[in-house]
Amino acid sequence: MSPVTALGHAKINLALGVGPLRADGFHELDTIFQSLDIHDRVTVTPVDGPPGVRRLTVAGLGADAVPTDRTNLAWRAAELVLGDLTGVPAVDIHIEKGIPTAGGMAGGSADAAAALRATAEVLRVVTGTGSSEAQLLEHARALGSDVPFTLLGGTRRGTGRGELLEEIPATRTRHWALAFNRRGLSTPEVFRTLDAMRVGAGCVASGDTSELLAALLADAGPEEIAPLLSNDLGAPALRLSPGLAEILRVGESAGALAGIVSGSGPTCGFLCADAVTAREVGGAVAGACCDIRMTATATGPAPGAQLVPR
Ligand code: C5P
Repeated sequence: MSPVTALGHAKINLALGVGPLRADGFHELDTIFQSLDIHDRVTVTPVDGPPGVRRLTVAGLGADAVPTDRTNLAWRAAELVLGDLTGVPAVDIHIEKGIPTAGGMAGGSADAAAALRATAEVLRVVTGTGSSEAQLLEHARALGSDVPFTLLGGTRRGTGRGELLEEIPATRTRHWALAFNRRGLSTPEVFRTLDAMRVGAGCVASGDTSELLAALLADAGPEEIAPLLSNDLGAPALRLSPGLAEILRVGESAGALAGIVSGSGPTCGFLCADAVTAREVGGAVAGACCDIRMTATATGPAPGAQLVPR
């Protein structure tokens, strides 16, 4: 059988309200996710050998920083789909990165979501046994907080630890400039820093998504959406990586309607009025900020993880 490829898309949080730390080590979230049209390609190839994942390779943007063993979420995603069914194949996984690693854009989760879809397709062809959408979503929840969203894509409100999703019928195209940093940030460390800052300030008030939700449902223009973007993880990301303040300042003064840290950072996203402005903002940030690895433009919403037609 020939290889199966699936795309996994990046996400940005248009709003990210972080509540208190729960007993299970996660924070209660109220967030609005949007998928973006930058993606990783995950290819699953049936090979000879005992059932299970045999080898994982990575190429492309920031590939050196991506694990190639079972700690890679895509490896575990494939294992979950293959399960302990009889007659399952051995597979190799190859990931071609287009999403920055440890950038706050759910790159690892997108790889896991794409691996779920590609492995399920391999299994369907080899054994004739398909995986239902409900099974794939259950696997996604077991893999991580952002994996369910990257499986489904679009624009969705996420609650719980981010895995309880409600679709938002907001299809208007939004234009972004993105600034990818040279160094990544650790998501647990950014959450821990937020907790410490809140203890210091004596409050845990979290951001509210309701105004943004209403504006998205009303199909509001980018000028109305921009002041409603928010991210509770922005302040701790800036504490850990102070250079982000200058990147946000440069992007906003180059014409972006708003600049935000994406998720736990350090990628910065700039909402722009149109594609031309997004290119100009990306160029200005790349020219002025030396911490930047590269800039890119993107639009959202994009689809969830999806098979590439063969
Ligand atoms: O779910 P995931 O493995 O992606 O989460 C990575 C880490 O981010 C968690 O171990 C936790 O430290 C932090 N996190 C959190 N609250 C969430 C989601 C993630 O504290 N809702």
